[in-house]
Amino acid sequence: MKPFDIKRAEFVTSVGQGQSYPAPLACEIAIVGRSNVGKSSLINCLCNNHKLTKTSATPGKTRMINYFLLNSEWYLVDLPGYGFAKTSKTERTNWGELMESYLRSGRPKHLFLLLDIRHAPSEEDKQMFRWVLYFGVPFTLIATKSDKLTKSARMLSANKAAKLLGAPPFALPFSAETGEGRAELLERINQILQG
Ligand code: GTP
Ligand code: MG
Repeated sequence: MKPFDIKRAEFVTSVGQGQSYPAPLACEIAIVGRSNVGKSSLINCLCNNHKLTKTSATPGKTRMINYFLLNSEWYLVDLPGYGFAKTSKTERTNWGELMESYLRSGRPKHLFLLLDIRHAPSEEDKQMFRWVLYFGVPFTLIATKSDKLTKSARMLSANKAAKLLGAPPFALPFSAETGEGRAELLERINQILQG
């Protein structure tokens, strides 16, 4: 059997607070994590398209809920990041409302929660994780930027980040630079689509 892959990826729409979501499909997987953790980069890497979604060294690039249609069949959703130091109180409130209504909507079938492999999870990561548990959405933890650590340190650091978050101690090391973890993530997506 041929391994599962992403053959088509198209941008669908951006959704802000109070706007409507696109017509639901059989599956929707969303990506959450703090600003700059590598959400947009992961999407581009998975889709082998480095122009699909804007990545940036300036945190806070993605402010809306961005929908991508994959293989003409399911949605991959890029959510706005949190923990961006330069946000105003109003922006944080807007972010909270947008996120909460999305999680409450029952649309995401699965969440990829991203953590930077080099750092202990922040208070906001922990808060986000509590939210994920509260809304009861199944999740997979992904430890991004694995290329920044030596090979021998990766697995340990990824699992440590998961443990510090209060989750079962496993996170998948992933690098948008080298493609490490891409095959494993595709396999995970395949399982989610089948499930
Ligand atoms: P927001 O949209 O602000 O929430 O950020 P984001 O989570 O979408 O992060 P983005 O993908 O824009 O990446 C932020 C920065 O990290 C960019 O400068 C990327 O080039 C860099 N980056 C992302 N993934 C990796 C990775 O796997 N390895 C390395 N070395 N850098 C990465
Ligand atoms: Mg982004």
